[in-house]
Amino acid sequence: MYSAAITGTGVFTPDNVITNDELVAAYNAYADRRNAENAEAIAAGEAEPVPHSSAEFIVAASGIENRRVMDKSGVLDPDRMYPRLAPRPDDQPSLMAEMALDAAGKALAQAGLEPGDIDAVFCAASNHERAYPAIAVEIQDLLGAGGFAFDMNVACSSATFGIQTAADMVRTGSVRRALVVNPEICSGHHEWRDRDCHFIFGDVATAVVVERDEGLTRPHWKIRSTRLATKFSNNIRNNDGFLRRAHDQMEDRRDMQFVQEGRKVFKEVLPLVSRHIADHMAAEGVTSADLSRLWLHQANKTMNDYIGKKVLGRDPEPGEQPNILQDYANTSSAGSIIAFSHHSEDLEPGSLGIICSFGAGYSVGSVIVERA
Ligand code: COA
Repeated sequence: MYSAAITGTGVFTPDNVITNDELVAAYNAYADRRNAENAEAIAAGEAEPVPHSSAEFIVAASGIENRRVMDKSGVLDPDRMYPRLAPRPDDQPSLMAEMALDAAGKALAQAGLEPGDIDAVFCAASNHERAYPAIAVEIQDLLGAGGFAFDMNVACSSATFGIQTAADMVRTGSVRRALVVNPEICSGHHEWRDRDCHFIFGDVATAVVVERDEGLTRPHWKIRSTRLATKFSNNIRNNDGFLRRAHDQMEDRRDMQFVQEGRKVFKEVLPLVSRHIADHMAAEGVTSADLSRLWLHQANKTMNDYIGKKVLGRDPEPGEQPNILQDYANTSSAGSIIAFSHHSEDLEPGSLGIICSFGAGYSVGSVIVERA
């Protein structure tokens, strides 16, 4: 058996920013239009008016201030409220592949590697823009990587599940270097017309290089241990899928975008994640005093504050548990990797940290890393 290390990370950040104020103005315009259309039914008590949203609520409930998206105009058009992304012919790179390539290039540069050094590519994300061929195989081809590639989907936990998959293959020697990419076009499966969640998501892509820990000369992160868990729940769900046609349900229904019971998710996922991290640390003989940093899934600031306090046994010091959700919103599987990529290089050799992602499934994955 070999040891595995993370030697490079990269983040592709879309140019388009949507502030809470812009988002709320578009949503409220949509609500006003719907209410004007349904004025008679609302006045007769036969229909409920669409309620307004507010930027104050969004910041207080989630900590989110901005989100990045691949297309802004469609999302902010009150007559549309979802992105406008031109279909691409089959001989053009898919959008997910294009985003992933940008992040992959940055991760490879940090690792000091060429694409041909990579033996395996995993595209681990909440959604894949087509059924097949796998986006990962397209990325492998566009990049010029060797070996093999496949897609994975474990919703918001896809990145840590991808890192364990890569690390296990590196440990056994079946591959020497793997690339895990997480292109997330959350704007495409998000319901921008539902005020309970319209502020949650953003788009991004991340990439992580995992390789054999042997003769490494650049600063890197030893993967001390990984741990995954799942427990079925319907509280975060999307019913879109390939049987739509067979179900005679081609129309755009609410449950064919992201749906969640936010309060239940809060109550059930917080203990699940806190216990998962505590058990993982205990099994590895790591105490809270040993930890320099936590890079958590970026869904909700209150959630992260709670988990940080549980894991450390005290309020985290500023910088100990960096959040990026104020700038990116929830970017599904990519969130904890953005936090890791942006807030890890300052740590001294020997420092320990945990990358942890969690979400639909339910699913939770943790990776204990040591700076070297
Ligand atoms: N603007 C103004 N008011 C709003 C609103 C908005 N955009 N959205 C909801 N409200 C109202 C609700 O109608 C409710 O009003 P009521 O008390 O009169 O019924 C009140 O604000 C509280 O709503 P609630 O949905 O209970 O808010 P919350 O504090 O639970 O926050 C989330 C909502 C989504 C931010 C929160 O539940 C969450 O983050 N949950 C976990 C999400 C998560 O991790 N998901 C994983 C996805 S990968």
